[in-house]
Amino acid sequence: DKGIYPYYMLKEVDEQPVVMHRLMERYFDEQGNVLIGKAILDEINAADRVYIIAAGTSYHAGLAGARLFEQWANKPTSVYISSEFAYEQPLLSEKPFFIFLSQSGETADSREVLQNINEAGYHSLTLTNVEKSTLWREATYALPLLAGPEIAVASTKAYVAQVTLESILAYALADNQDLNLMEELSNIAVAIQAIVDDKETFKNVADAMLVPASTHSAFYIGRGVDSTVALEAALKLKEISYVQAEGFAAGELKHGTLALIEEGTPVMALITQPKTAGLVRGNLSETTARGAHPYTIVSKSLAKEGDGYILPDVDPLLAPLVEVIPTQLLAYYTSLGRGLDVDRPRNLAKSVTVQ
Ligand code: F6R
Repeated sequence: DKGIYPYYMLKEVDEQPVVMHRLMERYFDEQGNVLIGKAILDEINAADRVYIIAAGTSYHAGLAGARLFEQWANKPTSVYISSEFAYEQPLLSEKPFFIFLSQSGETADSREVLQNINEAGYHSLTLTNVEKSTLWREATYALPLLAGPEIAVASTKAYVAQVTLESILAYALADNQDLNLMEELSNIAVAIQAIVDDKETFKNVADAMLVPASTHSAFYIGRGVDSTVALEAALKLKEISYVQAEGFAAGELKHGTLALIEEGTPVMALITQPKTAGLVRGNLSETTARGAHPYTIVSKSLAKEGDGYILPDVDPLLAPLVEVIPTQLLAYYTSLGRGLDVDRPRNLAKSVTVQ
């Protein structure tokens, strides 16, 4: 039931802080120790490489998660689009372990991969929102995302649940737990609440930059993990507003895409990584010099005069959890402003059961 909401997507965006609390209650004890089965952790520990397999938004959650596995848990991790892995399997490491990410647990592309790796005798873990789904049943292990039913075709809370659960897994695997993850995730839930309470801001930005019929294309840029959120932000905008959008690593602009920048082209920069903040700003100014209409979404400690939206500071590798929220709301208000059916975009299905 949508309740007071005009569309499921907005309801699901608003639910994200609750989803995070549900995950924390399930996967931490009161002292902040992780509650994940020893068998799962032992298998991942014993593996020499983790392969994350997913499609669409779940793939983008995998790209963010891989950084957590590598940088926190020191575990080499590769992320693959399931429809690619299925028919062009890379050379595998000696002791691979597979993690499937899927909201629905039914995505045919990912099922194809799971079938192949089961036949080869490899072990796997599925993180899914639908318990007893095919990917849940057929993997060696499965853990629930606990996001509650996601009805809107555009995935929002499942992404946040996936990145949250990946962070908990990576943290459990890490030798050195300097960060108090439970505390940090609670802070992030508070930060997300503040962003979703600020809807008017994003409606205004969308109305000014993305809703006008003169806007045919838009760009999201960022570096490091922000570049993965740029992909997700662009996908969300494309699928529900039909604005041609591209998301990519900011340093790549000058290698070709800069040619597409025209007077008034919206370029949204995601800036949460201290190491590269200045470089992203430099890349953004290369676009404004060619007439782009810039908008920055920036962590507080990196913010400057004139920035667009200021996010609270969080651990840089967890920044996707907060920075993705403004991009979800921008997509939502663009679709709404263009008079489209936000929850049911043309040509798309919620669960993609064909290859
Ligand atoms: C985008 C979206 C899709 C799904 C993709 C994978 O908003 O929802 O890109 O993420 O079809 O679906 P799942 O996660 O169910 O495997």
